[in-house]
Amino acid sequence: MENTLRLAVQKSGRLSEGSMKLIKSCGISVSNGIGKLKAKAANFPVEFFFLRDDDIPGYVADGIADIGIVGENVIVEKQKPVDTAHRLGFSKCRLSIAIEKAAQYNGPQDLQGMRIATSYPNLLGKFLDENDIKAEVHEISGSVEIAPSIGLAKAVCDIVSSGSTLFTNGLKEVETIFNSEAVLIANKALSEGKKKVLEQLLFRIKSLQQAKNNKYILLNAPEKNIDAIIEQLPGMRSPTVLPLAQKGWVSVHSVINENDFWAKIEDLKAAGAEGILVVPIEKMIL
Ligand code: PRP
Ligand code: ZN
Repeated sequence: MENTLRLAVQKSGRLSEGSMKLIKSCGISVSNGIGKLKAKAANFPVEFFFLRDDDIPGYVADGIADIGIVGENVIVEKQKPVDTAHRLGFSKCRLSIAIEKAAQYNGPQDLQGMRIATSYPNLLGKFLDENDIKAEVHEISGSVEIAPSIGLAKAVCDIVSSGSTLFTNGLKEVETIFNSEAVLIANKALSEGKKKVLEQLLFRIKSLQQAKNNKYILLNAPEKNIDAIIEQLPGMRSPTVLPLAQKGWVSVHSVINENDFWAKIEDLKAAGAEGILVVPIEKMIL
């Protein structure tokens, strides 16, 4: 179909699981058989290309793929002309400089004259320039963290997520130069038809993100205090208030931002709220 969006996702690695989880949560079903590099969704006009993450910005910029899910670190490093359609909030990680655990470090000036191995020469170069450091940037495309132990470089600049890769290679993080998360990118010249499909996909993604930040709250309260309770729980339009079998008592149902919950709990209890339940919301459409 002409308006089918070609979506590039990472074939395997830190992003791939989160990307496919997001797609499935959007109600899109796809069976990506092992080793398959292309797959069509059964119930949404999208076709998946499973690629190396480093190649995704280029494919989307060139229009080989229409959209892609990739780390912001890769987007900024590759400097390809693409639109960032949405931040996705998963695969959070940082690009950091690390040196051998036993080495001294007092600040960026200690990197002066060092040889630093990285797959991120642009981001590292920018950091070095900004800090007036002259160092030798040695670009390699993978297994960066073994560089110090094989004598290739004194320092590395690489992605850190849990920190376990640095730890197992006897390295310590000394500078964080970029914070990253997964983003949805799009080709700059999508057809009107494809833009519409992208809007539908973004609508689903945003509904999930909204739902994640909010909780459904149910509580019982004396009817006479209902105004004080409602003030704390304005909900989407307004809360639902249902009578309990016991006279003078009501059940209040509403939606609350997760971050507000603990701040409001004292006031709710002071207004006589009891039997408070807070439950997750799967999708939320405003
Ligand atoms: C990064 C980095 C490390 C690992 C760090 O690779 O190169 O190998 O993640 O994660 P940790 O702190 O949790 O141990 P990435 O996922 O970007 O893979 P790629 O370089 O193969 O694309
Ligand atoms: Zn990669």
